This record gives sequence, C-alpha cells and structure tokens, in this order.
Amino acid sequence: MRRRDFLGLSGAALTAAALPLAASHWRALAQGAQRPRLSMPPLLDTRKTGKLSLVAQTGQTSFAGGPPNLTAGYNSGFMGPTIVMQNGALDARVENRLNEPVTSHWHGLLVPGHHDGGPHTPVEPGKAWADVMQLDQQATTAWYHSHTHGSTARHVYAGLAGVIHHTDGRDDDRGLPSTYGVDDLTLVIQDKRFDDAGKLVYTPDTTDILNGFHGERILVNGQFNSVAVVSRGIVRLRLLNGSNARIYSLHTSDRRPMHVIGNDGGFLGKPVELTFLRIAPGERFEVLVDFGQGAPPLLMNSSGISMKILEFATDDALKPRITRVPDTLGTELAPLPEGNFPVRRISLTMGGGSSFELRNVSQLASGHGEHGGHTGHGPVLGAGPNGELGVVMTDFGINSRPYDTRRIDFQVKRGTHERWLVSGGGGVIHPFHVHGVHFRIVATGGGAPQPEESGWKDTHPINGQLEIIVRFDHEAPREAPYMFHCHILEHEDSGMMGQFTVT
Ligand code: C2O
Ligand code: CU
Ligand code: CU
Repeated sequence: MRRRDFLGLSGAALTAAALPLAASHWRALAQGAQRPRLSMPPLLDTRKTGKLSLVAQTGQTSFAGGPPNLTAGYNSGFMGPTIVMQNGALDARVENRLNEPVTSHWHGLLVPGHHDGGPHTPVEPGKAWADVMQLDQQATTAWYHSHTHGSTARHVYAGLAGVIHHTDGRDDDRGLPSTYGVDDLTLVIQDKRFDDAGKLVYTPDTTDILNGFHGERILVNGQFNSVAVVSRGIVRLRLLNGSNARIYSLHTSDRRPMHVIGNDGGFLGKPVELTFLRIAPGERFEVLVDFGQGAPPLLMNSSGISMKILEFATDDALKPRITRVPDTLGTELAPLPEGNFPVRRISLTMGGGSSFELRNVSQLASGHGEHGGHTGHGPVLGAGPNGELGVVMTDFGINSRPYDTRRIDFQVKRGTHERWLVSGGGGVIHPFHVHGVHFRIVATGGGAPQPEESGWKDTHPINGQLEIIVRFDHEAPREAPYMFHCHILEHEDSGMMGQFTVT
C-alpha cells in the first residue's frame, strides 16, 4: 500500500465518474429512506483494571450504504472506543499497526509532556508507547486523536479519534443521567465529503487549506442520517466537535432549550439554558435536553446552511431516570485567578499577517523540504503547471513563524499563571487550543465570556481578541513540549502551531 493510498484518499476518488444513480442514493438517504439507529462507540472502562490499551489500525468502512473506504481507528477499523477513566494511575499503552507513525494525544487530559501524545512522541509502525499516567483533574468529557505533525488532519478525518469520559463517580449526586446510550449519549460530530458514488474524499485544495476542509454531510459517530432512541426524560448529550474545520451552531428543531452543564474542562457552576450553542473543532460541551414532552425534536446546525445533524425518537419502554434539570452541579466555580501575571501575545497568522507574496512556483517546488525541521508549508495559489509566476501564500504560523519541531517558542515556569492575549488573522475564526493546561476566559471578542464559556477550557474559537488566564501544573520538557495551535487541522498541519516548555 502506498502512503498516499492510506485511508483510501487517493486521487481515484476525485476522478470517479459522477453516477446519477448514486446521487439519487444520497437524496433517498436524506429523505429518510434508510435511517439507522444511532450507535454509541463501544465502552472501554479502565476503572477496574487501571489499564488502557489502544491499537491504531486500518479498516474498511462504508458510509450510508456506499462503497467501502480504507479508514483507521483505535481498536477498530474506524474511530475509537469511549474510554472511561478516573483519577489515579492509568497504565496506558498505544500500539501502532499502521504503516506510518501515529500518536494518541489526550486532548483535555492534564498530563505531563511525555504523556501528552504530541508530535514529539510518534509511535513508529509496529511499535508501542506505554507508560503509567497519573490523572488528577475534574470530571469532564475529553477526547483523544492522532497528532502526527503534517498528518493530523488526514488521520483524524480517517477515524483516528475517540471520546474520553473522565468521571468522578458523582453523577447520581448531581442528578445527572449516566446510562450510556440510553440517557447519556456521546455524540461525535464530524462533517465529511463524499463523491457521487458515496466514496469518502479527502483531497484538500487551496481553498480547503485556507478555510479548513469542510464536508457536505454531517456524521454522528460515523453514521449519516441516524436516529437516536432515548427515554422520555432528561437526556445528556456529550458533544464533541471532531470535525477538521467546521464550526457548528447547534439547536433543536423546535427551539426547546439546551442546558449546558459542562464544557472542555469540567462542569459549570450551574446549568446554563440556551437555544443556540456554538461548538468549534476540538471543543466539548455537555448539555441536557428534556424529551419529556411533545414529539422529539431534531438536532440541527444553523451555521452556514441549515442542516439536520441527528434525529431522535423516544421509546416508552425505556424508563426515564432523570426528569428534571438540576439547579446546581455541586461544584462552585472557582473565581478567576487574580494577579499581575506575565502577559504573552499570540497571533495566529495566515502568511505574514495575511499578506500574499509573489514567488516563482517552480522555485517553491524545488525549495520544498529545504527548511530543515520545518515541515509546515503554505498552499500555492493559482499555480500554473509550467512553473510560471503564481501567487504563493507564505506559511501559516504563530506570530508569523511557522511551526518548527526544533524551535521552542517560549518557556513557562511550572506552578505559575500567565495572561495570554490571543488574536487571529486572515478573516477566519481559528479555534485556539493549548495542550496540557486548562485556561479561564477573561474576555472574548471585546466582551465578557458567555456563561457557557465560563469554567476551565482548553479550546476556544478566536473572534476578535481572546484574553485568557492559563495555569501550568505539569512539566513539559524540551524533548516533549506542549503544543498550542489552531484546531482547524489543515491550519495546524500547515504550521499554525507553536510549542512551549513548562519546567
Ligand atoms: Cu486536539 Cu493538539 O490537539
Ligand atoms: Cu490537545
Ligand atoms: Cu486556523
């Protein structure tokens, strides 16, 4: 198997002739001819054994009855199990049965750099990574995904991602639903692109790199047009935006409220009722929806074109366990850390502050790869086949410098706080993510954070300036620094990422 063929994302998908019959297949699906029942990823509960074993592997997956595609996953051919874990020691192992390096980055777990699964700790084909991790953080919904620099977008798109339920066992005390797949649903929302024959496509062109790769179809847990069967009570939805680039604005079709109980870093002080919930790539939200009354609504997206994400059906045979939204969540949110913290300015830039420069295209091609450890590269705009002059965008970067594996962008003292002022360029909303830490939002877009943006977070879309206070509890040495980057994966792979140490 050639590398480019990995995940079946070769050029063949592009050239496949448009089949009118296949197109009507999609239409029939969208009209509801086939609505499979939504399934949950299998549960992998580590609480009894204290052990976690993941095997990255390939598989054949067909979507919505289309042809099979070469995909990848952890412990399965597509995506990974929902890992349940708790504080304490976790004996973790990640084995790589792919033919290219992979990692498993624990997005949202507060673990030291050596355990972070970032681009500095790739697992080579046929090898495994193993260590005992010490978990000590608030209960939350986190996730894990491959983070091999330059391949992260392709890996995640192909399925190398899964959800983590970090639990403290106190959901009953909080009055929260917790029956997996019945009143506690894990929903991984991802958009994918398919050709007319129903084959999965990942062939990012210039526009896809600039805006991030968007698909026309939204899958939940890898399924299209599915129906979630729930009880007639309060249902908890653990939402992960696992898309490469798409930002969703979620709402119910009948505008019944969603009660946000938690985000990236854990539970909020109390539930926050809202009608529209914006969720950017990498972010998680937990919401409660009351299915007690009326016909069950649809879960919709209204950013860009209005699209159905998921249909619900209630089953009276499933006894509702929780019938009211709790008033509080049992944890007072700590006040915003105060102090004269060091200030750091971080700008996510798209080519020297979004200016374009002219370069000879053939020069670019021959110069490619001569940047030493710098693996990120910007897209070519309007490049002709004969190497004539084209418009070339300079590299994506942080403060105008593209990611460089060998460059530590800054060093932070362990046990301290910092105030970061983060801005984005190029007219794109960049979801900003930091590894190994949680932060609190002081201001976003010139105003105070919305109630659902309170609490500890690790990812947040930048719309205007984002001011955060970051706390550094764990060590990340030079050999295994923490990343901070845009979670539009095409941007990240193209260099919109930096790294820092905590010592
Ligand atoms: Cu979700 Cu650096 O990653
Ligand atoms: Cu992360
Ligand atoms: Cu970005």
